[in-house]
Amino acid sequence: MARIYVTREIVGEALSCLRALHEVEVWPGPGSPPRAALLAAVADADGLLAVLTERIDAELIEAAPRLRAIANYGVGYDNIDIEAARARGIAVGNTPDVLTEATADLAFALLLACARHLVEARAAVAAGHWGTWEPAGWLGLDVHGATLGIVGLGRIGRAVARRAAGFAMTVLATRATPLDELLERSDFVSLHCPLTPQTRHLIDASALARMKPTAILVNTARGGIVDQAALVEALWAGRIAGAALDVTDPEPPRPGDPLLAAPNLIVLPHIGSATRTARAEMTAVAVENLIAALDGRPMPHAVV
Ligand code: GLV
Repeated sequence: MARIYVTREIVGEALSCLRALHEVEVWPGPGSPPRAALLAAVADADGLLAVLTERIDAELIEAAPRLRAIANYGVGYDNIDIEAARARGIAVGNTPDVLTEATADLAFALLLACARHLVEARAAVAAGHWGTWEPAGWLGLDVHGATLGIVGLGRIGRAVARRAAGFAMTVLATRATPLDELLERSDFVSLHCPLTPQTRHLIDASALARMKPTAILVNTARGGIVDQAALVEALWAGRIAGAALDVTDPEPPRPGDPLLAAPNLIVLPHIGSATRTARAEMTAVAVENLIAALDGRPMPHAVV
């Protein structure tokens, strides 16, 4: 029987399968375990089930001499020092596929909401500012027939492209179209690449300057892909029409972060995969990954 530390209460039935096989300790919350508690908890752990807010770095790996398996609860794994894990022979897995459609739904919801000012219009109604029907009120952008640029045509990018087909959109993707050209031609740019040293601040001031002044940026990938200071400046200067972010850098933004005051911006609290089904399936995949690795088998969804 192995000892497994789980850094959050997670949804779904699958955790009971893990409990039937191993000794499982779950951080009760609220929120993440403080760093010191996490370092102490992994000291005798054989397996770790972590969510993406936990920094699984060389220090943590060193503090966990027995650790053999890390199951990340999410598809992105930029929170994990993969090289440090590899050097120790620790298996690392993620939860792809099961959250693809939910995340693509949210990207499209953000795109539509930003194009048609849903958030501001709803707030105006709630504040009692619905005077009368206005011919020139709340004018937004057409989504149908527009051009969508997808940066990162992986599983989620392709799922967004499938939705775009239903809106008769022209889809450009970075696999076939150079990024500069994609930025210049797109009415909507949606980010779906992982955060890596190569993609950090991929969307910087010069990338934003290439976008049409009528264009909207959607980010459901990772906050660090966008240079947020440059985005704030571009929004205030009207260099792009709007942005809709499910992810920021850091998360949450610090109080007083200029991002939160920027115009034509929607910010959500990183809820791309937050459907009951997706989250329960993520639990199942993370548990399968752990059980396999602790049993000496390859993880079904291994990244190392
Ligand atoms: C969420 O952002 C994930 O990587 O699953």
